[in-house]
Amino acid sequence: MNKFNRRQFIALAIGSGSITAGTTLWFKKSNSQEYRTKESLNSPKVYQSQDGLLEVNLEANYTRVNLAGKTAYLLTYNGQIPAPRLEVKPGDRVRIKLTNKLQQPTNLHYHGLHLPPTGKADNVFVRINPQETFIYEFEIPSTHKAGTFWYHPHVHGYVADQLSGGLAGLFIIRGDLDEIPEIKTAKEEFLVLQDFSLDNQGRLYSSDYMNLMAGREGNVITINGQINPTFSLNKNGLLRLRILNASTSRFYNLSLENHPFYLIAMDGNTIRNPIEQTELLLTPGQRAEILVKGKQTPRPYRLLNLPYNRGGMGMMGGGMMGGRMGGMMHGRQDFNNPTVLGKIQYDGISEDISLPTQLTSINNLSKSDKTRRFTLNHGMFPGVGMAFLINNQPYDHQRIDTQVKVNTVEDWELINTGVMDHPFHLHVNSFQVISRNGINEPYPTWRDTVLVRRGETVKIRIPFQDFTGKTVYHCHILDHEDLGMMGNLEIVS
Ligand code: C2O
Ligand code: CU
Ligand code: CU
Repeated sequence: MNKFNRRQFIALAIGSGSITAGTTLWFKKSNSQEYRTKESLNSPKVYQSQDGLLEVNLEANYTRVNLAGKTAYLLTYNGQIPAPRLEVKPGDRVRIKLTNKLQQPTNLHYHGLHLPPTGKADNVFVRINPQETFIYEFEIPSTHKAGTFWYHPHVHGYVADQLSGGLAGLFIIRGDLDEIPEIKTAKEEFLVLQDFSLDNQGRLYSSDYMNLMAGREGNVITINGQINPTFSLNKNGLLRLRILNASTSRFYNLSLENHPFYLIAMDGNTIRNPIEQTELLLTPGQRAEILVKGKQTPRPYRLLNLPYNRGGMGMMGGGMMGGRMGGMMHGRQDFNNPTVLGKIQYDGISEDISLPTQLTSINNLSKSDKTRRFTLNHGMFPGVGMAFLINNQPYDHQRIDTQVKVNTVEDWELINTGVMDHPFHLHVNSFQVISRNGINEPYPTWRDTVLVRRGETVKIRIPFQDFTGKTVYHCHILDHEDLGMMGNLEIVS
């Protein structure tokens, strides 16, 4: 299984030559405004577009950082865990200069954005070699929806290693959702969920020690690079949490003591009306936006990660090599008990803010032009060995697996015939989830990543809009993706 990559990663993880101080800033003067959010000192840097342009320099490097008060050696953009948050508006131009100081090739993918998959835009076939620089340049369509998106590396074979090393940041599009009066008055917090596999010295375990088949899970869970951080809420007020699961494989099944969540957006897609729920399952790659209403007795309440069994773990023998994990910090996998991820405390009192009712209107896609089937499983494949497969084949760079016509709508039936859950993700175009095991979904929800549990069949409806070119779909358990569960999609005119 990809020995070459792993060796490279070990070299990267133990080589000391490239360590630089985590506090160094590489930002040059640019058009973009730079500030640090006032409330939380440890929150990432933010770069907002100015006069229609976001211009940012990013450097991917192996860096010494302060992770929750301890030294750790991680892969970062500009020395930051999580990476800087980028904020734009529809119609803005984006110019990102990425310098690769890693010892492996890298690139950037703009997860969830509706952009051309070609040229200097959301092109996952770009390969930036060590010491090279690449300038991404694209325009956010003026019709682009507002929402929570993100960026991360996407060179096949290196994605899981680079994500689990820390390379991930939020990409926010401001727009109509932010202008809804109740949402505008809500206090806004961003939560980037990441887990890291660290030894007692704060160094990353090499992937040799991790269970790649099950999908690696780290022993240290962080929110915005902090362990068990506290967020605050006003009595009677609204708190808007914008949550990203940037973990390589870990699912989060979130719950907040004594407080329901009001879901307002999934994967950068605003939903029609807020939906009340007490649990929120977020698979790798997914984002959710929720509102929390401050209507309890003021005291701290725990943000919990409830147990969720995504399959394959028992069979594959657990997440990590048992005895090697000393546990520099807490956050170990526990299938039976909830773990605490953070806290929410009451800070003050505000006017009674009610929940918004109507958020947006949603067009149902009533019919499709074509139906296709994709089976998800793993198994032996000649010349490869054990691999993760879509329609019985592991990923091949050269092969076009699926060719579609731009401006058509297709139904894709995603059939999981295996023993593990797979969150299925498509680039460039969002899709509507139509049915699960033949039962129509109660609400037409737009997403870019959908969970297909073991044994399930999920039908999605995809409008291929605006852009032609080659892109990919894959399982967002990134070890599965690197081990073959990805396909090439060509959108033709
Ligand atoms: Cu966040 Cu191809 O993925
Ligand atoms: Cu993506
Ligand atoms: Cu998978």
